[in-house]
Amino acid sequence: MAGNRTFTMIKPDAVENGHIGAILAKINEAGFRIVAMEMTALSRKDAEAFYAVHAERPFFGELVEYMTSGPIVAAILEKDNAVADFRTLIGATNPAEAAEGTIRKLYATSIAANAVHGSDSDENAAIEGNFFFAQRSRH
Ligand code: PPS
Repeated sequence: MAGNRTFTMIKPDAVENGHIGAILAKINEAGFRIVAMEMTALSRKDAEAFYAVHAERPFFGELVEYMTSGPIVAAILEKDNAVADFRTLIGATNPAEAAEGTIRKLYATSIAANAVHGSDSDENAAIEGNFFFAQRSRH
């Protein structure tokens, strides 16, 4: 059975461009409940740990640079079928390929600066949510 929680970050480009409110409104309108939320910033160590699964990919350095370039908003969201429904709401990783009306189509500026993160599985949703909201002593 699909889980009912996912994890998201509003990424530095969307924060910098003033889209926090609009993105949260779209999340609420789509039926997600925000169960935890924090505006914060990732250290290099945080970003490298969070994205460790992508460490061997050619864009890893750029991804870490970008995700540490400014504040982000981290949140845990609740809804039936949360992971899949949230990925539908945000659209394709590359905003040029994202469907009309999706958050990335509306607010992303490039494949790196793509406005939001959404967990890709129930397992990762739990790991990523815990990374921000169950391990506060790491800061
Ligand atoms: S996905 O959705 O996880 O399958 O997407 P994927 O293509 O595997 O990308 C994983 C994360 O890497 C980011 N990404 C990039 N960053 C910088 N430059 C390039 N070229 C690039 N391609 C992908 C992508 O936004 C994903 O970040 P998150 O935070 O998981 O959305």
